[in-house]
Order: sequence, then structure tokens, then C-alpha cells
Amino acid sequence: MPNLQSKWRFLMMVLGVQLIVMALLSREGYQKRVTYFFRIFRRTDTGVGASMQNHTGRDVYANLSLLSKSQTREESMPYCPKKSPLVGGPLRVTFPSGLTLVQVERKNPLVVRGGRYRPPNCESLHHTAIIIPHRNREHHLKFLLYYLHPFLQRQQLNYGIYIIHQAGNYTFNRAKLMNVGFREAMREEDWDCLFFHDVDLIPEDDRNTYTCDAHPKHAAIAMDKFGYKLPYKMYFGGVSALTPLQYLKMNGFPNNYWGWGGEDDDIGIRVSLGGMLITRPSLNVGRYKMIKHKLDKGNEVNPRRFNMLAKTRHTWKEDGMNTVEYEVLSREYLPLYTNITVNIGTEKGLLSLPPKTQMAPPANGMPKKDAKTSLPDTEHHPLS
Ligand SMILES: *[C@@H]1O[C@H](CO)[C@@H](O)[C@H](O)[C@H]1NC(C)=O
Ligand SMILES: *[C@@H]1O[C@H](CO)[C@@H](O)[C@H](O)[C@H]1NC(C)=O
Ligand SMILES: *[C@@H]1O[C@H](CO)[C@@H](O)[C@H](O)[C@H]1NC(C)=O
Ligand SMILES: *[C@@H]1O[C@H](CO)[C@@H](O)[C@H](O)[C@H]1NC(C)=O
Repeated sequence: MPNLQSKWRFLMMVLGVQLIVMALLSREGYQKRVTYFFRIFRRTDTGVGASMQNHTGRDVYANLSLLSKSQTREESMPYCPKKSPLVGGPLRVTFPSGLTLVQVERKNPLVVRGGRYRPPNCESLHHTAIIIPHRNREHHLKFLLYYLHPFLQRQQLNYGIYIIHQAGNYTFNRAKLMNVGFREAMREEDWDCLFFHDVDLIPEDDRNTYTCDAHPKHAAIAMDKFGYKLPYKMYFGGVSALTPLQYLKMNGFPNNYWGWGGEDDDIGIRVSLGGMLITRPSLNVGRYKMIKHKLDKGNEVNPRRFNMLAKTRHTWKEDGMNTVEYEVLSREYLPLYTNITVNIGTEKGLLSLPPKTQMAPPANGMPKKDAKTSLPDTEHHPLS
């Protein structure tokens, strides 16, 4: 009898412990607790928490002069190493007054026409296009170029920078400009990763690699504006990265968000509707400094954004990369970037801006719903 009783007591104890563990794990945020738990055992690892690290950083141009310019490219160059030897961690980001584009050019002698670069002494493993929607932000663009060019060179990427410039004064449409950038960049080269980049965000750590992951990546996870924390779990704004396949799987970005706000959440929802997850760098690597500014004229808060978000689930297949319509007005290959200027029309379609060409306009500006989703093709913007 005593034997049976002690067995019983033992069983109850095991069950109890299990219950407690399960209760702990199933509570919201158990992941944080688990990492905390592990960190206790690895205290020698970092010493201080990520947020307390010294982020004074080094000059983004440090050591880049070691790259030889004169060296002629050989046919059979070795591939660059998996991890670039030039990458070193936190960078110092300040905004000196009086910086000019000519100075940025001088600092980046290996960048060629259209803002293209490839490492001089090894074959890059990664081809990344940077897509930057833009209008009237030349001041910010100058700083971004100053930091982004050396940042990408430190990572030994083969890259190109595209500015997608919205023509006219009609309300800004960030996400539609991204769709334009995707198609126009892919038309030029077989990029294996596209970074969709706000013009006012400067990366502060060169370990934040501008390459793509197995799932869409949200890179701007820790901005100074939000106290270097993710503002909310589904946040997908600022800087994100997708492979062409990932981009098409979610039918690109929405075309119908005019004005500020909502489109980045729509994109986040599309990622999951496309059956994918969001990957992120760690909090102390995905750090960005935002260049402060007021809400721009022509980019007023979109009051309909919450209504639209509620419908994304039903609209994502009918609105996106398969229906984007625009007209390329000019394409300039400048020393530090390619400037693609586009008419993206208004809510009412492409033709509500005065047409510039003498070509007969198409019968209507309605999106083509049966359009197939394919890479570079011109059939959906007949005016370009
Ligand atoms: C960070 O490091 C720099 C030099 O590397 C030092 O001057 C600065 O005081 C440090 N800042 C903090 C907050 O420890
Ligand atoms: C980069 O430059 C710093 C000095 O600015 C030097 O200490 C470091 O060793 C250099 N790193 C490489 C990989 O050359
Ligand atoms: C846009 O606005 C500016 C001033 O706000 C004006 O000078 C310019 O003519 C406008 N452009 C168009 C295409 O309406
Ligand atoms: C891009 O080109 C357009 C048209 O030439 C021009 O108005 C605009 O200022 C340019 N933008 C940049 C950032 O170079």
C-alpha cells in the first residue's frame, strides 16, 4: 500500500510540473521569456543587453579605400566570401550641413553610371536592387546616398540604386511607385533581391545585410523614431526586401493607397496571404536613423486607410503587380543613381493627368484583371 501511494504522489508531482511549464510557455510573449531564460546561462556572451550597446559606431567609409580602383577585372575572379571582411558593426550617422552630391560622388569612385557597383576584386554572390520612391526629397536623398553607397560596398554586393520619381503634384503613392520600381529594375537586370527603401531612413549597422531571405524580410525593425523597437508585430514599413518570386507570390504591393499610411500594413497582410512569413534581423542590427521632417505637402494622411486594410483579403489578387499602370516619362542614368520619372495617374486612372504623348490613349484606364503575372513585360502600361 505505501508503495502505491508514493507512486501516486510522484505521478501527481510530474503532472503538476508539466502544468506549470505549459502555463508559462503558452502565455503571450513566451519567446521573450525563453530567450531571457537562455541568456541567464550565457551571460558571458554579450554582457550588456542589445539596447545598451555602444552604438557610437565607426565611419561608414572606413577601410573602403583599401579597395583598388585601377585593377582590371579578370574573367575568372573568385567569388566573394560568404561574410564580407569589411563588415564591422555599428556605424556613425550624422547629417552634416553643406554636403553635396559631388562630394558623395568623389567619396565613391567605384560607383558607375546609373548608381551601379560591383566589387573590384571578387565576384559578388548577391545582386541587389534598391528601389526608392521619391518626390521633392532631394535633401534626404543626398544623405541616403552618402551612407548607402559605402554601406552596400562594405557588404560586397553587386548593386544598383533606382529612384522612382512621381511626376506631377497629385497625392503621393509610395506602394505603387514600388511596383513601378520592381518592373523597371527587373527589366534592366536579373536582380535576385529587391530592397524597397524609404528615402529618409539611414541604416546604422553594416551587419544588416542587404540580401534576401527564404521569406520576405522586414529590415527596418529598430528605428530611432520608435525608440529602436518594433512598433507592433505586423509592422512592415520603412525598409523591406523580397526576391522577385516572393514579390510576385503576393501580387506585389497595392496600387490604391494614395497619401500617407496604411500601405505598409497592407503589404504585411499580403505577405501572409501569399503564404509566407516575415523574417527580421536582430534588434541591434536592424537599426535605422530617420531624417526628421514634417509630413510633406501632397502626402496627406490617407483617411480611408483602415477601411481599405479591412478589405485587403478580398482585393489583393485584383490589385497589385498584375494591374499596375503607369507611363515612364524619363530615365536618367546619373552618377549615383538611376532616376526613373513616372506618371502614375490618380485614383481615376492614368489619363487624368494631361497626356504628354500624341499616341492615341487606350479605350479605358481600367485595370486588366486577367493579366498574367510575369516578369518584364510592357503590356500593362501602353503609353510607356
Ligand atoms: C562609446 O564608445 C566611444 C569610443 O569608442 C566612447 O567615446 C563613448 O563614450 C562610448 N559611449 C558610451 C555610451 O559608452
Ligand atoms: C579597418 O580600419 C581600421 C582602422 O580604421 C583598422 O583597425 C581595421 O583593422 C581595418 N580593418 C580591415 C579589415 O582592414
Ligand atoms: C506643382 O506645384 C508647384 C508649386 O507648388 C508648381 O510650381 C507646379 O507648376 C505644379 N506642377 C504641376 C504639374 O501642376
Ligand atoms: C528625376 O528626373 C525628373 C525629370 O527629369 C526631375 O524632375 C527630378 O528632379 C529628378 N529627380 C532626381 C532625384 O534626380
